[in-house]
Amino acid sequence: MPEIFINGQPVQAADDETVLQAALRNGYFIPYFCWHKSLSIHGNCRICGVQPEGKNWVEIACNMPVAEGMRVLTDSDLVREHRKATMQFITLNHPVDCGICDKAGECTLQDYHFEYNGGRSISIDAKVRSTKHVELSKRIVLDNERCILCTRCVRFTREISKSNALGVKQRGDESLVRASEDGAFDRDAYSDNVIDICPVGALLSRSFLHQARVWYLKPTPSVCPGCARGCTVNLWHRKPEWKLRALDPKQNVSIARVTPLENPAVNGLWICNKGRDLAPIFERARAEQPMLKGQPTDLPGAIAAARGLIAGAKQPVALVSSWGSNEELAAFAGAFRDRFATFVKADHLPADGEPLQDDLLIRADKNPNTAGARALFGDAPAAFAEGTDLVLVWGEGCNFAGLPRGAKVIFLNAYLQPENGHADAFIPISIQTERSGHYTNFEGTVSAFAACFPKPPSVADAEQLFAELAPPAGRRA
Ligand code: SF4
Ligand code: SF4
Ligand code: FES
Repeated sequence: MPEIFINGQPVQAADDETVLQAALRNGYFIPYFCWHKSLSIHGNCRICGVQPEGKNWVEIACNMPVAEGMRVLTDSDLVREHRKATMQFITLNHPVDCGICDKAGECTLQDYHFEYNGGRSISIDAKVRSTKHVELSKRIVLDNERCILCTRCVRFTREISKSNALGVKQRGDESLVRASEDGAFDRDAYSDNVIDICPVGALLSRSFLHQARVWYLKPTPSVCPGCARGCTVNLWHRKPEWKLRALDPKQNVSIARVTPLENPAVNGLWICNKGRDLAPIFERARAEQPMLKGQPTDLPGAIAAARGLIAGAKQPVALVSSWGSNEELAAFAGAFRDRFATFVKADHLPADGEPLQDDLLIRADKNPNTAGARALFGDAPAAFAEGTDLVLVWGEGCNFAGLPRGAKVIFLNAYLQPENGHADAFIPISIQTERSGHYTNFEGTVSAFAACFPKPPSVADAEQLFAELAPPAGRRA
């Protein structure tokens, strides 16, 4: 453990650390653009310069290995002058169009300009223009005038997603980030991570483009239900205090964007593109009308009818949801373990063209809580014994044609589906964004999700519902 001195203070560094890493870990901030803790070191932006004590020059801290007794200054006059000059250089041809840039509010360039430069450009030359609104892929647009050529995006495709889809062509102020022409960036299932790691507003999500200013949004921690990895994510949505009144009120209760929530135990810093597209998954047309054989009823009426069907059944079978939370599954087990023959159902199967599985994150099981459900109910495939007279189906993915003929059906579902109207009792239920809970991923790691929107009043919360449907002995107070 080498001891180094930062601004005269002793700091214990790890053997393989750089000065930048040792400084950040010990609470000394050194600015950086091109350095990223999960990527190789390129050392091209030069903003991380520190002054070796007693010398009259600066060196970049991101590529400076620590050595016993090393002494550096991170806030000397020379370092401040270097940062100011570097910011002048980096913004030389930058359009400074923060007012229309989606990155505004979370842009490193804005923050550093404010912190380390603060002045107008001293250049007397016209800015060099570059290409704008470049379609880098079907999901991402690039503004080359905003790009500071840090190459984080390029290194991401080489070192993390391994698509090798991005590169820099030309030289000097004609340098351009470009996608390879074989469509590899379109096929990169992790491409949208470059939007997060771009330190400026050069890489922009087409689905989020000009949709919201980030300071009107807030993140709710959640779990991606797109596969058994269960990546932790932030679901961004409108802050209640900035509720829209004149525009479509649905925008107040919809997901504006999804970003990774760093989690070393599950997904590290990354998520796949499916995780970015949770809005179209969660925001499908909802089922909100309780029904008895297609006839509308109210929620208490549907619950009473379902309770009666359960009480009268001789051989009931339940197909439980692999999208149910641990809390809901435990509530089902507590209420019905001895009453139903229970099997775990795959609510979602891989969609056409969807990546099945890879070495980074994506899993073939497209359900978030198969592990949690199987821990309670086993992994036997669904079987209907002779005489099965009731099937309780919870969630999507049921092959209704395969249910025993003549058996009554109780169906708990959140989305519009033709079978809703065929069930003897149909009870609409809430979705993940309307409740809190936990999922257990395929490796046994448990992650929490929180509610961000209220549930519609006519839909049931499954955890509470199971307690209400339980036979009197299993009913909770
Ligand atoms: S597009 Fe962004 S991440 Fe890529 S090189 Fe330019 S500034 Fe860096
Ligand atoms: S890897 Fe799976 S859990 Fe993670 S973001 Fe992609 S679909 Fe969601
Ligand atoms: S962060 Fe060190 S040179 Fe870019």
